[in-house]
Formats: sequence, structure tokens, C-alpha cells
Amino acid sequence: MPEVDITSILKESRVFNPPKKFSESSHIKSFDEYEQIYKEAEIDPEAFWAKIAGELHWFKKWDKVLEWNPPFAKWFVGGELNISYNCIDRHLTTWRKNKAAIIWEGEPGDSRTLTYQDLHREVSKFANVLKSIGVNKGDRVAIYMPMIPELPIAMLGCARIGAIHSVVFGGFSAEALKDRVYDAQAKVIITADGGFRKGEVVPLKEKVDEAADKSPSVEKVIAVKRTGNQVQMKDGRDYWWHDLMKDASDKCEAIPLDSEHPLFILYTSGTTGKPKGVVHTTGGYLTGVYITTKWVFDLKDEDTYWCTADIGWVTGHSYILYGPLANGATSLMYEGGPMYPQPDRFWEIVDRYKVNIFYTAPTAIRALTKHGEQWPLKHDLSSLRLLGTVGEPINPEAWIWYHKLIGKERCPIVDTWWQTETGMILITPLPGAIPTKPGSATRPFPGIIADVVSREGKSEAPNKGGYLVIKKPWPAMLRTIYGDDERYKKQYWEEIKGVYFTGDGARRDEDGYFWIMGRVDDVMNVAGHRLSTMEIESALVSHFTVAEAAVVGRPDEIKGQAVVAFVTLELGNNPTDELKKELKEHVSKEIGPIAKPDDIRFTEALPKTRSGKIMRRLLRDIAYGREKMGDTTTLEDYSVLAKLMEDKE
Ligand code: PRX
Repeated sequence: MPEVDITSILKESRVFNPPKKFSESSHIKSFDEYEQIYKEAEIDPEAFWAKIAGELHWFKKWDKVLEWNPPFAKWFVGGELNISYNCIDRHLTTWRKNKAAIIWEGEPGDSRTLTYQDLHREVSKFANVLKSIGVNKGDRVAIYMPMIPELPIAMLGCARIGAIHSVVFGGFSAEALKDRVYDAQAKVIITADGGFRKGEVVPLKEKVDEAADKSPSVEKVIAVKRTGNQVQMKDGRDYWWHDLMKDASDKCEAIPLDSEHPLFILYTSGTTGKPKGVVHTTGGYLTGVYITTKWVFDLKDEDTYWCTADIGWVTGHSYILYGPLANGATSLMYEGGPMYPQPDRFWEIVDRYKVNIFYTAPTAIRALTKHGEQWPLKHDLSSLRLLGTVGEPINPEAWIWYHKLIGKERCPIVDTWWQTETGMILITPLPGAIPTKPGSATRPFPGIIADVVSREGKSEAPNKGGYLVIKKPWPAMLRTIYGDDERYKKQYWEEIKGVYFTGDGARRDEDGYFWIMGRVDDVMNVAGHRLSTMEIESALVSHFTVAEAAVVGRPDEIKGQAVVAFVTLELGNNPTDELKKELKEHVSKEIGPIAKPDDIRFTEALPKTRSGKIMRRLLRDIAYGREKMGDTTTLEDYSVLAKLMEDKE
């Protein structure tokens, strides 16, 4: 982990109390009640989590709540359950049987509603399809799909028979898909002929073909017909979803699975070029997402709840699918972009479906802010009662816009801090109980012991910046990195001894509120998506003209951070604008459009220490356009830096 000086510059003193009416009807009604629950959970976390797990359906009750062999945790040891059963079957014996589980809206305006009973039929059929093509308990299934109902059906189908899903975001390239399929040794890939995004067809099947051709583990590919786009179907390997589903039986019992049976792998960027397969298991994960969905979103049976994330990210796994359905909620799901056909698509959907709870990313809010007030003002947003944000710190201006224009100063805002690894929200307001301050994720969820510490692990004084750590295991925590226990240990539990290191810098104010200050490692957060600088650097270096590359982030008004790449070329290549364009496209092809550098700056050399380490800190100063550089005493050759500063764009 690089040494960084974490100084906090954000000072925000506004406090917004939960509206009285909201508190009165919420699950957790006051700050005192929150503190009481928090204290009880701190004294006896196992009793706290066991009580919550007890609200779920278990085929066999656990023998022991937690087995903690640091840093390896097992939760609800000996217990047996099935997530698909908890998210569907459990509701069928209640009035929820005919309640909408998923309301889906396609980008072109088509829509579909699946009740719990409908979902049960589709998921059971698809689970049988998986079995019929040879998928067994423990097999990995890669899913590379647009945001259509078949995506959650596929995930729940896997969970029903104990297959482990690995959803790969549809915006990733064929190359990135292949790496993930290879790492997980996936037997099957589920995809579609395409999806709709910003009015265009996003091709997926072609990329799957490219990835599958290079992946010996892949035996079968299943494709949903979504766009009518022409695609190739390889005989004996590729099947249409509708052909397989046509004759599948709708009877498939959810099998009892060990509480620690892996539910999914989800790849995320780390500090090296190789993405990490974060492993989540069954009982603990479900317990965590179930209760956070209920308390953080104050979810009630009458609510229409909408999380705008893509299921290809953890937010979609936990808070479109598993958390809401475990609560028997109505979860809205939207296929396309927020600006299509115009910048009021979100508000138009909120108005038409009378959405009550709306959860999105600060980057989307900032982008919508730019288009002006007229778009939200065109619609009736009075159904909304709670707003949420996730993925990156929210700047107070965006928070206030959200509060005034969307929430009409009536809706609490929950700024939820968590990660792919944490599985569930860890630091967050409980909307009826915790007063909010714009830009702060406020307090830890009950059962979560968070702290801000120094490099040596000592708690920092109030308002002093430090490293955000979690001190006790929690049920939805990642169990390991797929196939790499050592990396799991090293990266998360050895950076700061004995605690979980989040990779984030933070400070805690005098009220115990957490203010997240962004990543302290070589991970960037671009438009709410996590990218590793190393990953982009290796993509650049794989281009034949590039000798060396260093990537840093610089602040960006909409995306939070923008990608800036410093590139030195192999001798004989000219640093032209054409080449810049080509390199941007190259990164897009290697990783995906999300990783495309915003700026490429050619340089004859990169600033390095005497031991040869690239000094990213100085490059960051340059990318930020800072006039004064940080400490340059360890720099090997000052003229490299001087030249870069001269070349300022
Ligand atoms: O830096 C933090 C930021 O996003 C990182 C986790 O990214 P990912 O695993 O992709 O998960 C995103 C969705 C859960 C964190 O290490 N982050 C996430 N939520 C917040 C945040 N930063 C500030 N405030 C948040 N609410």
C-alpha cells in the first residue's frame, strides 16, 4: 500500500434531521433506538446476526453462528438453506404470491411484470434447463447479459441448483470476459443477441463467441433473443433460451445448500492488473443483504423500489435482486440509459410506476444536474419517500440538488458506503433514525465495527484523516479471492494488522460520522466503477507502439474521476493525435469503454525513484494541473518532471 497523506478538505456543517412523519412509521424510529441496537450488537454480534438469520427460511438450522479463523470466516455453520427458496418459494404461501416481484422496463419502452408466482415458474424451468445441459452443483456459470428479466431468472436458476454464477458486466470487452471465464473455469455462458442502450443495440453474442472460442472450459452457450440482431449460433454449443425453455418442466425443488456454499463470484479491480474474483457464500450473504435492504431503505410491502444500477455490479446483485426479493419487495429494473430518449427518463419512470424508493449513483445525479431543472420539474415525483446514493462520495452540491429537486426536501437521503467485497451496505444512515450531513455516509450499520486508523492500526483522533478499516467479521463479507487465498489474506488482512483494510481513506468527525475520502491505493473510481490503474497500464503496454505507461486519476465534474495516461513510446513511433485516438480505442477493446483514457499524454520518460518506481503521486500533481509539486527529493531525474510540467496541456 502506498504511503499517502490523507488530508481532509471537505467541511460541511449542514445537518438534516429525519422528517418526523417518516421516523414515526419507519423500522428504526429514532437515534436512541439505533444506538441501543448498535450497542447490543457490539456487545454480542453473534446474537444480533443470529436473530436476523432466524427471519429467513432454513432447511436445517445452524449449529454455530460464527467460526472465525482469521482471516477466514464461516457463518451459520452447519445450517442449510437456498437463496432461490428464500427469494421466491417462501412468499408463495402468503398473499405475496401474486405480488409483482420484478417490474421491468426496456429501453425502447416495452415492459414486463413478473409476480412471485411467475418468477417461480420461470426460475424453476431455467434451473431444469441448466440441469439438462449438464450443469451441476458447484459448477461455474458466466452470465453476460443486458438488463432484461432473463438475467435475474438465470441467477436465481443457478442458485436453485447450487451452481455458482459469475456475472460479467455487459460493458466489458471480449478480452475482459475471456479472462473472467478462464479464471472461474466457467462451463456455460448465458448471454443475449444484444441489449438496448442509448438507442442502439449493444452486441453481446459476438463477444461471447470470441471469449468462448478461447476458453476450453466452456461447453455450452445460451442466448436470449432480445434485439433480433443477427448472430452466429455454433452447432452443438449454442442454444436459444426460448428453445430450451419451451419444453422445460416447471417443477424443480430448490436444493438445501450448506450455509457456506458459494453463491457467486464477482470480479472487481484491485491494485494489480489481474481482476479479483470476489467470492460470496449463501447464508451470511443473504442475512446481510436481507436486513440492510429492510432497514436502510425502510422497505415496506407497499413500496415500489428502484435501484438503477446494472446487475453486472455488486449493487445490482445485492440491492436489485437478492436483498429486495428476500424481503418480498417489488423491485423495478430498467434496461437502458438515463438520458434516453431525453434526460427525464428516470423521472418519467418514477412518475409512471409511482416509485417510492429510488437508489442511484452520484455520477448519474451530477450528469442529470447538468441538464437543468426543467427535466425533473416536468414530472410528478410525489410518490418518492426515500432516496439513496452509492458508489462514490457525493459532493454537497449534488446532494442538495437531489434533496431539493427530486426529494422536494421531503425525502431522507441514504448515502450508503460499501464495496464488492463487503457484499452489503456497512456505513449508512438509517433514514428514520440518523440525521444526515451532505457528503457523509454517517454511521456504521449495527454489527459493524468500523474505525479510521493510522498505518500502524491506531485509532485516529476525530477529524484526522486515516485508513478506513472494519474490525470484526460480518456475515456478508467476502470469503476469499477465487482460487487465491493468499491474495485475499495479503490484500485485505495484512496491510493493517488484524483488521479488514478497505482501501479507502476516511475521517470521522466529532459526532462519529464517517466521511469517505476516496481510494488510497491504485484503484480509481470512474463514474462509480472501480478500475485499476495497473489494468489500464497493462492494456496500454500491450499495444505495439507503447514502451511504458502510467495511469492516474484526476477530478472530473461528472465522472468523479477521469483517466489520465502518461505514455512513453517505443523508439521510431511518432506521438501523434492519431496514435492517441488509436490507444484510447485499444484500451476500450482490451477492457471496455468504461476504461478508455480521457487524456493521453506522451512523454519521453516517466518520473521514477532511484529504485525505478514510477512516482504516480507526481503524475497526479501534473494531471490535477497543480503548480506546486509534492516532495521530489526521491526523484531520480528532475528534468523528466520539469519537461512534463512544461508540456502542460
Ligand atoms: O471507494 C469506495 C467507493 O467505491 C468503492 C467500492 O467500489 P465497488 O466495489 O465497485 O462497489 C461499489 C458499490 C458498492 C469503495 O471502496 N464507494 C462506494 N460507496 C461509497 C463510496 N465512496 C464514498 N461514499 C460512498 N457511499
